[in-house]
Amino acid sequence: MRNTITTHINGRDITLSDVPPDRMALDWMRAEGLTSVKEGCGEGDCGACTIALGIPAGDHLEWRAVASCLLFLPMLDGRAVLSAEGLASPAGTPHPVQQAMAERSGTQCGFCSPGITMSLFALSRRTERDEESVLDALAGNLCRCTGYRPILEAAGTLPLSVPTESETALAGRLAGLSATPLFYSYGGRSYYAPTDLAEALAYRAAHPEAWVIAGGTDMGLAITKRDQHPDSVLSLARVGELTRLTRHAGGLTIGAAVPYTDILAAVRDRNPALARLLRRVGATQIRNQGTFGGNLGTASPIGDSLPALIALGATIDLVAPDGVRSVAAETFVTGYRQTRLAPDELVGAVHLPDPPPGARFYAYKIAKRQDQDISTLSASFLISVENGMVTGFTAAFGGAADRPIRARSLEKALMGRPWTLDSIREAGAALADDISPRSDVRGSARYRTELASGLLARLWHETRTAGGIPATLDMV
Ligand SMILES: Cc1cc2nc3c(=O)[nH]c(=O)nc-3n(C[C@H](O)[C@H](O)[C@H](O)COP(=O)(O)OP(=O)(O)OC[C@H]3O[C@@H](n4cnc5c(N)ncnc54)[C@H](O)[C@@H]3O)c2cc1C
Ligand code: FES
Ligand code: FES
Repeated sequence: MRNTITTHINGRDITLSDVPPDRMALDWMRAEGLTSVKEGCGEGDCGACTIALGIPAGDHLEWRAVASCLLFLPMLDGRAVLSAEGLASPAGTPHPVQQAMAERSGTQCGFCSPGITMSLFALSRRTERDEESVLDALAGNLCRCTGYRPILEAAGTLPLSVPTESETALAGRLAGLSATPLFYSYGGRSYYAPTDLAEALAYRAAHPEAWVIAGGTDMGLAITKRDQHPDSVLSLARVGELTRLTRHAGGLTIGAAVPYTDILAAVRDRNPALARLLRRVGATQIRNQGTFGGNLGTASPIGDSLPALIALGATIDLVAPDGVRSVAAETFVTGYRQTRLAPDELVGAVHLPDPPPGARFYAYKIAKRQDQDISTLSASFLISVENGMVTGFTAAFGGAADRPIRARSLEKALMGRPWTLDSIREAGAALADDISPRSDVRGSARYRTELASGLLARLWHETRTAGGIPATLDMV
């Protein structure tokens, strides 16, 4: 067990033993003079604080853009870190990403530029780049003055950055560190990052007051926005069993601490509609950290994962020191911000089935913006139609009640009916029995009710083939 934070920042090994564990990486880096890392919002929204985190992956580092304002300092342990200060060569030659930003006039006041440059650096490590991945890379970075055209042009000219020999050696060293548990404490506060599930569960049982974090994108806000400070933190981010994603015939088993970025890559071919939905969770920086376990742990009525998991018939493993129980996704949240988790339990994994043959999955998220915004309302549907009749239909909504819900009355009203707009209109009345939306800053109850019916109609329109009403829906 190690008790110091060991990291490698901008080419230098750093060991820390005298900083509180609930200090955010942003604050610490700025205090150390790395002032290219800017603070804009302090809540993961603007990208000004973006740094690149190098995660050991075999013979290289996988560089990911993350929001340092939501990164607990011990999350740097076993990782390499790059900020804009570390991009240029030791002789001072600008990195190709910096060069591209300068040549294309991608900066004016410059406040956003270091964060954007780090997002572009992470992008420059990717061999496969298309327009969508470029837009994705920049969606979490706000620029108030340049306008995005020159920045996108800079992104379009980036050469591929390749790992160097020294990076390979560093990756090996950091992998060794990451495989060892960390128990770091300073100033009466502690941070425990075990690598083994049994140890995580034993700690949770012995320290029920400890904050549990995975990506920390939600819990980080409690520090930066609500000024709360935990005495102890249990990090699940490197627990082997929780960070595993397994593919098998019929679906995926996704460890609770697997970041969205990896989930997205795994579902892209198997379930493109789910991939499109997950692509709309936060922006790249949030998806590089955030997890299903954290999304379920918040039990938010507008969390994006649960409606999709319900419609797809997923099950969720709840793990405790004395064993595992599996619950249907639709029963996991029991009330406003309430779950079935017992005090000594953690979410272990999500078993995500592929849509069965003949069924099609559709997922919609209505928010004020395309990227980096939480849902006003979301809906997920799994539907089968044979000979023009509905033979299978599962519907789930987020933002339509005090918790994500399965719309059983709607399902009943559509099952066995012809798949026509008339059936949709009639069944839409049953939806009123399922949903009870609230009014809040994102939308009134009435608006949400209209949206729910509207999404049902949209589903019908989207299932139509060129020839009109489909006899059978083929899987896409
Ligand atoms: C800028 C920004 C944009 C966002 N956009 C979206 C969005 O579009 N859609 C959306 O749904 N959410 C969004 N979120 C919210 C958040 O990112 C997600 O809910 C994410 O999935 C949380 O995962 P995490 O691992 O970071 O959670 P953490 O912050 O680590 O944890 C969140 C909660 O879950 C608990 N928890 C974590 N792991 C487990 C586990 N294995 N077992 C039991 N409890 C656990 C924690 O104790 C805590 O209560 C956004 C957040 C930010 C800051
Ligand atoms: S300061 Fe805005 S995302 Fe971190
Ligand atoms: S150059 Fe001013 S915010 Fe982007």
